[in-house]
Amino acid sequence: MSNYHIKNLEEYFQVYRKSVRDPENFWEEIAEENFMWRKRWSKVLEFDLSKPEVSWYKGAKLNITENCIDRHIYARGEKTAIIFEPNDPSEKAEHITYKQLHERVCRLANVLLDHGVKKGDRVCIYLPMIPELAVSLLACARIGAIHSVVFAGFSSTALSTRINDSDCKIVITSDGSYRGGKTIDLKGIVDEALENCEGLKTVLVVKRIHSEIAMKENRDKWLQPLLDEAYHDCVPVVMDAEDPLFILYTSGSTGKPKGMVHTTAGYMVYTAYTFKNVFQYRENDVFWCTADIGWITGHSYIVYGPLANGATTLMFEGVPSYPDFGRFWQVVEKHKVTQFYTAPTAIRALAKERLDFSENYDLSSLKILGSVGEPINEEAWHWYDENIGKKNCPIVDTWWQTETGGIMISPIPYSTPTIPTYATLPLPGVQPALMDENGEELKGNLVSGRLCIKFPWPGMARTIWGNHERYRETYFSTFENKYFTGDGALRDSTGYYRITGRVDDVVIVSGHNLGTAPIEDAINEHPAVAESAIVGFPHDVKGNALYGFVILKEIGESRLHENLRKEINQIITEHIGPIAKLDKIQFTTGLPKTRSGKIMRRILRKIAENDTSNLGDISTLLDPEVVQDIIDGAI
Ligand code: PRX
Repeated sequence: MSNYHIKNLEEYFQVYRKSVRDPENFWEEIAEENFMWRKRWSKVLEFDLSKPEVSWYKGAKLNITENCIDRHIYARGEKTAIIFEPNDPSEKAEHITYKQLHERVCRLANVLLDHGVKKGDRVCIYLPMIPELAVSLLACARIGAIHSVVFAGFSSTALSTRINDSDCKIVITSDGSYRGGKTIDLKGIVDEALENCEGLKTVLVVKRIHSEIAMKENRDKWLQPLLDEAYHDCVPVVMDAEDPLFILYTSGSTGKPKGMVHTTAGYMVYTAYTFKNVFQYRENDVFWCTADIGWITGHSYIVYGPLANGATTLMFEGVPSYPDFGRFWQVVEKHKVTQFYTAPTAIRALAKERLDFSENYDLSSLKILGSVGEPINEEAWHWYDENIGKKNCPIVDTWWQTETGGIMISPIPYSTPTIPTYATLPLPGVQPALMDENGEELKGNLVSGRLCIKFPWPGMARTIWGNHERYRETYFSTFENKYFTGDGALRDSTGYYRITGRVDDVVIVSGHNLGTAPIEDAINEHPAVAESAIVGFPHDVKGNALYGFVILKEIGESRLHENLRKEINQIITEHIGPIAKLDKIQFTTGLPKTRSGKIMRRILRKIAENDTSNLGDISTLLDPEVVQDIIDGAI
């Protein structure tokens, strides 16, 4: 039996039982057998979830890039590490070998060193899906700098908030980016953001779209000439197991984004382990995760997990609809992709299009299909299974979060029988618990409640950058000594988990995790707006869309309302990004509030869903009559 590579259901249960009975021994064996350490740990796990403090592989020394690059050079130096497939199908794809990746990472690491970046400094990366993005993460890790990738669809305000929150020293960006038939002026967004970031002295700019851009003297530098001059080798900085590797921001239920901090050794072991098992990775596979590296899915399953296993990982710059809806499948055929990992929103969008978009391509290389980011509905699951997998590829519905670092609940292909909409069973080392509203754990099967994890796992985030108390409060205070995920779930009669969705004020729109509070804060800045409340409602393609209830300071003429709707969405685009735009905006004179002033979102959700048959108890509202007014005005 191998802990590291599970091959059938019986083995899964054996490994799972072992991982719960003796977690330290389980994670020790995996760490010992599969990675390169500069110094061994003195203790596998130390923790106190009440604080919370968690330390994995304490005392160990390593560099994650030695594990992701250097050690593969001997066995597979000429093997492709990264395939880069550009936005435009007529542009040549790039194959970067492990040897070449080593050189590119070392050169950039040296450029960063030349600009005064040291171990522990924060580097903001605001780049499209081009090879320099993956190289930038690894170059930071090479010298012990902490990367903070900001998704290149975020606005300048969102970018400056993130740069300032973690006090980044440098930004790596590009002149612009391609998105289907359009280009985006990334450097312009950076320039705007930096008006509010005093401490930031250097911007390194990758040339991608060859647009005319302004370069600020002494601050902005083209990256390529610096790379050409830099030395091709760079000695990795030896890191402590618990040194931060990166910060990645995720939405919260208050206005400020949370900078989740992931550390080095545990994250490496966990992403490598889950990659190997969930995708049943074999040496010559070509793995494609369609996420952007700006999200955790890209960090863990485009960069670190695959490279730690010496895999070939595909980076795609484009979108599924350009030049037409067959693009994903054309790329699968072209590069003979073996594992394909995407989000339900993409599947639903493609399922609406003509079938010949997928039928025109040879998809026979595919072995395993994956889904992540939101619950996958039954219809999308079957479409994926029949038209893409040809009923021959297990589908892994993988549940996890930015905070968990890697996949937590998922089938293991060829081992776990799959059922549409079920993420099925916890991976080894993961101990879920379902809790009722009184904080009691629901034992046995056929129960549903709030999903918690009751024992540490190596990939978990350790803190929120600069605010450990917020970390404790958000995740460890609702249920004693347990990590609370913010999701609801049910456990069926066989012990399978099905994730039912968020139970807090986060809405998943097209697989993007959006807090309602920051959107409300943005809207409330509009001079005509007095107050607002945002909720999610079901949407065919996006999974959820956003519905805004907005109280105006003065009730204007209705013809002005159309303009106001546009302005409100414009303000959201400026503060957060186009992904957070509202699909529906209802102007109302009041909101359902309790006597203590809290908005009862449950009621607004029902109205947005157009299901007002059972609103529950509204007698505790300050002004119950407002509910009928809102129902009458619903869109
Ligand atoms: O609600 C769950 C949903 O996405 C949330 C995490 O979002 P984020 O941190 O952006 O990470 C997304 C990629 C890992 C979760 O709390 N979610 C993620 N995967 C699934 C899911 N909901 C149902 N089924 C899934 N497979």
